[in-house]
Amino acid sequence: MAGEKRLICDSDQVIEQGKGFRFDVEIEGEVMSAFIVRHLGRVRAYINRCAHVPVELDWQEGEFFDSSGLYLVCSTHGAVYAPESGRCLGGPCVGKHLIPLEVFEEDNRIMLLNAQTLKLF
Ligand code: FES
Repeated sequence: MAGEKRLICDSDQVIEQGKGFRFDVEIEGEVMSAFIVRHLGRVRAYINRCAHVPVELDWQEGEFFDSSGLYLVCSTHGAVYAPESGRCLGGPCVGKHLIPLEVFEEDNRIMLLNAQTLKLF
């Protein structure tokens, strides 16, 4: 796979519809919290920042899914997000999106791709 890649964690550190993995990423000179979750077998990563107010989402460290395990949820005002797209499906920021990061799995490890090219909006 082409592009800069960085090892984030082992694959078994990210549980299907369960506990995720937090890490830091530097984007345009700013260090930001980010996270990886697993949903329907695929890993997804986002900047750990709600689309409503720029606060971290997890209700306990690394816990991003709601009790159903179907949606990501913001611990502050309860916005729910689709894990596969980061789109807010309900709550004060409905229709807005989490900022995605590109991750993939390789040899039972999760790699981040091209974070330095990410543009915040
Ligand atoms: S800060 Fe996330 S829903 Fe308000």
